[in-house]
Amino acid sequence: MTEHATILEIAGLAKRFGGLTVIDGLNLTVGEREILGIIGPNGAGKTTLFNLVAGVLQPSAGTIRYAGREIGGLRTWDRCRIGIGRTYQIPKPFAHMSVFENVLTAAVHGAGKSIRAAREQAEAMLALTGLAADHAQPAGQLTLLDLKRLELCRALAIGPRLLLLDEIAGGLTDAEVDTLLGIIQRVHEKGTAIIWIEHVIRALRKLCHRIAVLHEGAFVTIGEPGAVLADSRVKTIYLGE
Ligand SMILES: Nc1ncnc2c1ncn2[C@@H]1O[C@H](COP(=O)(O)OP(=O)(O)O)[C@@H](O)[C@H]1O
Ligand SMILES: [Mg+2]
Repeated sequence: MTEHATILEIAGLAKRFGGLTVIDGLNLTVGEREILGIIGPNGAGKTTLFNLVAGVLQPSAGTIRYAGREIGGLRTWDRCRIGIGRTYQIPKPFAHMSVFENVLTAAVHGAGKSIRAAREQAEAMLALTGLAADHAQPAGQLTLLDLKRLELCRALAIGPRLLLLDEIAGGLTDAEVDTLLGIIQRVHEKGTAIIWIEHVIRALRKLCHRIAVLHEGAFVTIGEPGAVLADSRVKTIYLGE
């Protein structure tokens, strides 16, 4: 594969809920080594786009190709097993289970690994996300930053080639966002492509190769972060929020 190989290719993607068009004919290509940021006002369709890629929702039209293969017919768990990992906007760990058990469960069920391989993967991802010391804590007792780490860790437990992050920096302090940036940088260095929905623009500006702006289910613009964030249309969309 060349360094410009494509991991995700979306063409003509649409999603309607009854009469409401939420995703409106999207085209998008994401490179294997890319970090792509997605911004847009609340209700723009960002999470719906992730739900379509992850297989939680079926598209009304269009195709999604991942690693060269059309994945429209695959269920969520099959998409996990071929390496599509995602975090949820609202973390939902098993609160009564320990941090380690949460990550192990994701590695066993999400990645279909043996207990032994899952255990190794879980331990490696706990170390990567800085949660190793908290492995025995009940997930329900974590701070917000550690909850976000756990959410990321569970997504990483499946060994993703493509990681979908949904507002993982939301609600964190500047210092906590910096901690998270360090972790995401390390994940990317291990060879994972990332699509990152976020309102914390500072975070996206630091790590993203490109930023896409979603508005009413369509991309207004997509390109180099500096240029996109300086675009007057982008300011209008956000000020109009
Ligand atoms: N399952 C659903 N049924 C009906 N409408 C939905 C559903 N999921 C999302 N929507 C609507 O789609 C629009 C986009 O939602 P969402 O993708 O969550 O936006 P964002 O993540 O950009 O804030 C909203 O108007 C939302 O109410
Ligand atoms: Mg959302």
